[in-house]
Order: sequence, then C-alpha cells, then structure tokens
Amino acid sequence: MISDHGIPGVVPAGSMADRSQPVLVLPGGLELRPWRTDDADADALLAGGQEPAIRQWNLFSVGSRDEARARIERMHERWRAETGAVWAIARPGGPPLGLAGLHAVDLAGGSADIMYWLLPESRGGGIVVQAARRLGRWALDELGLHRLRLCHAVANPASCRVAEKAGYAYEGTMRSSLLHADGWHDEHLHALVAGSD
Ligand SMILES: CC(C)(COP(=O)(O)OP(=O)(O)OC[C@H]1O[C@@H](n2cnc3c(N)ncnc32)[C@H](O)[C@@H]1OP(=O)(O)O)[C@@H](O)C(=O)NCCC(=O)NCCS
Repeated sequence: MISDHGIPGVVPAGSMADRSQPVLVLPGGLELRPWRTDDADADALLAGGQEPAIRQWNLFSVGSRDEARARIERMHERWRAETGAVWAIARPGGPPLGLAGLHAVDLAGGSADIMYWLLPESRGGGIVVQAARRLGRWALDELGLHRLRLCHAVANPASCRVAEKAGYAYEGTMRSSLLHADGWHDEHLHALVAGSD
C-alpha cells in the first residue's frame, strides 16, 4: 500500500487479520494467549476492571460479567480490524493473571501503543517486564512495526520501572496529558524503536 505521500506502508494490510492471534511463550511457565469468552476469562477481566489501581492507571473499568464478555469479543474484532492486539497473561490452561497488549495499532504507519496490568495477587514478580519484552519482540521483529510507545502517569513509578527494565527508553514528559479520576496527570513517554538498543 502506498500512502498519500508516496511512502509505502510499513506493514502490509492483512498481516494480522489474515492469521490467528498467536500464543507467545513467556519465561517462568507463563504465556500470552488470546482472551476467551468463557466464564474464567470474563471473571478475570471483570476483576481487573473493578480493581482500584487498574481503574486509576489504565482508565479501565468493567461493571459485569456480560460487559467483560462483550469487551473480549471487541478484542477479537480489533484483531480482525488490525487496530488492537490484546493477550491474557496466564499459565497454560489457567485463568488470566493480567493483560498485555497493543492499542492504536497503525500498520501502515508502523506504530502502536503498549498497555498492561496484573491482578494484585500476581504482582511483585516481574511478570509484566517479561510480557513487555516479548510483546516488543513480537511487534517489531515478527509483525514488523517500527516503533512501540509506552505511556504511563509520572505518579505511577512501578510502570516506569517496568518500561525501563523492558527496554522502552524514556523520551520525555508529556505535561498534563491524561485526565484521570483525580485530575490531569503528567505522563512519561517511553518507546521501543526497531534497530536501536
Ligand atoms: C505496574 C504493574 C503492571 C507492574 O507489575 P509487576 O510485573 O508485578 O511489576 P513488579 O511489581 O514486579 O515491579 C517491576 C519493577 O518495578 C519496581 N516497582 C514496583 N513498585 C514500585 C514503586 N511503587 N516505585 C518504584 N518502583 C517500583 C519493582 O521493584 C520492580 O523493579 P526491580 O525488579 O528492579 O525491583 C502492576 O503493578 C499493576 O498492574 N499495577 C496497576 C495497574 C497499572 O499500573 N498499570 C500500568 C498502567 S501504565
């Protein structure tokens, strides 16, 4: 595909929609796998959407199991539309411990944003650093994107540490850039860029 500026698209259309969402193996007996519409996954998404820190920092809330199921269906639609790619972090055969994925996917422009959260009982073990590294490899090396943005509120230092440890370099502070429940927050912009260390 050629853009209006005569520059070819970075990743060809169909690179996601023409295949099923892969399972990505993580260290420590975990994996990133597509969300399912069964009760276990809907309940895990509901638990995440009710947890105060996830509601605060991910601006994510879910009110019922039915709403959770509808959100999982929308994840699958966004994969087919090539605008999002969202995985559950889980042990094989087990329920989700958290979520990691990409939103604002722009195949032609070669970029996306990464997002993540863990349910409280699974925090503290470095799981999301592993997930962010694996997603970075998938997005840049396997899918072919050029740049992956990671934004977090400056008031959320755990997410900053995840970004740094996973290799998403700090690029700057976006002033008053996101409205949370308690008002406007500054955000750090980090990014993983193809071909740079
Ligand atoms: C942020 C989050 C995903 C990290 O989960 P995790 O993978 O369990 O991360 P860990 O707790 O193992 O911490 C990762 C690193 O951050 C550090 N860290 C954790 N809390 C911290 C804090 N409050 N201040 C500074 N560093 C902190 C840890 O020490 C660790 O670094 P280390 O390995 O060098 O010691 C998880 O806490 C979470 O889901 N929080 C609520 C929602 C959220 O913040 N989402 C992100 C929105 S951008």
